[in-house]
Amino acid sequence: KTIYVLNGPNLNLLGRRQPEIYGRETLDDVGHLCRDAAGEGYQIRLLQSNWEGQIIDWIHEAREAACGIVINPAALTHTSVAVLDALNTFEGPVIEVHISQVHKREAFRHHSYVSMRADGVIAGLGIEGYAAATRRIVSLTRD
Ligand code: DQA
Repeated sequence: KTIYVLNGPNLNLLGRRQPEIYGRETLDDVGHLCRDAAGEGYQIRLLQSNWEGQIIDWIHEAREAACGIVINPAALTHTSVAVLDALNTFEGPVIEVHISQVHKREAFRHHSYVSMRADGVIAGLGIEGYAAATRRIVSLTRD
C-alpha cells in the first residue's frame, strides 16, 4: 500500500525558510519520520511542488495509486478551491497537516478549504504532525 505525502508551495525550503516558525528540519526529515511511522507493508511517496496544478495532478494520480493522502497544502490551504475539488475525487482517507499552529497566526490562515474534505487536521505539532497523520492513515487502511 502507498501513502502519498503531498506538500505545497515553499515547503521545498523547509529547514531554511522562517525556521522560528517552521523549525530547522527539512523535507528529507519529514520523509524519514513518515517511513518510520508507516512501518511494514506501506510505501511513502513524498512529493512537493510550488505549482498548484502539479499538486492537483498528483491527487488525481493518487486516486489509483494511493490508499490515503497526507497533505500540507501550505498557502494553497487558504486559497484553493481546485485542490479541495481534487481531494473530493479521492476516496481514501485524507489528513491535513500544518507544521505551525495556524490558528495562532494571521486571520487569513484560520480558514482552510481543504478542511472541508480532510478526515483529520493537525496543526502546530511541527513535523511530528506528519508522523501522526501517517499513523492515522495506516490505522484507517489496515485490513
Ligand atoms: C503551513 C501554514 C500555511 O499558512 C503557510 O502558508 C505554509 C505552511 C504550515 O505548515 O504551517 O506555507 O501550511
